[in-house]
Amino acid sequence: MKLVLAVNFFLYYTKVSICLRVVGVSVPSLKQRGESVTLTCDYDLEGGKLYSVKWYRDNEEFYRYMPRLTPPQHAHRLDGVRVDLEKSSARRVHLREVTLKSRGLYRCEVSEEAPSFHSAQSETFMEIYFFPRESPRIVGHERPYEILEPLDVNCSSAKAFPAPDLQWHIDGQKVTDQSLLIAYGAKPAPQGLLVSTLGLRAPAMPHMKLRCVAIIGPHKRERIVTIEISSANRHKTSTFVTAVLLTIISLIYQKIL
Ligand SMILES: *[C@@H]1O[C@H](CO)[C@@H](O)[C@H](O)[C@H]1NC(C)=O
Repeated sequence: MKLVLAVNFFLYYTKVSICLRVVGVSVPSLKQRGESVTLTCDYDLEGGKLYSVKWYRDNEEFYRYMPRLTPPQHAHRLDGVRVDLEKSSARRVHLREVTLKSRGLYRCEVSEEAPSFHSAQSETFMEIYFFPRESPRIVGHERPYEILEPLDVNCSSAKAFPAPDLQWHIDGQKVTDQSLLIAYGAKPAPQGLLVSTLGLRAPAMPHMKLRCVAIIGPHKRERIVTIEISSANRHKTSTFVTAVLLTIISLIYQKIL
């Protein structure tokens, strides 16, 4: 039972000073929950001497490395940020078991010793994904429909984070007409996860293949159901249509006469 969590870092900006350069902050792009993440602070002292490297998440410090101190490392635990000191150094910080609470803006700040006192920093947003473990669920397709009766069908994603985007496809065609869709938005689920629901109100047809796709980042899950309109319902519909036609014809006939 592996819960899939993906970690994605986007490079925001790099501030450059004259001598010291922080080239960037990086991490691998795909992770599973329970796994760890190594954040790398890539800097170039260009001859200067390192005074400190500090790491922040959303402006809160959680790790510092100062070569003059013994020991040189110091970690401060934040919610969702657990540093493994043995695997951390002056250039990287190793986080154990990332969770949804680990998401945030990560910054590394590098300072040089006297006399220059230069400092530079770089930051990156870490998004944590929780991919849904199951296919989306479709409800409302089992009940009988008559031809052209608006469907009353919902598609709900499995628990995920962030809220998955949902799409409806009818017979291979993506539904883009917003008047046929009802966006119920995302509802909270346990563990900070979310469930998205999208309704479909397209007119019923004799054989319809309905496909619902839940999408988060690079991850997709789908479910397919079919709507069959039984001959009894078709018969009822055709009787109704025939009755309407007969009424119109008789009205026209009366007018003519
Ligand atoms: C669709 O979802 C909405 C919102 O949760 C609910 O009010 C409605 O009854 C659902 N319809 C069906 C057919 O389940």
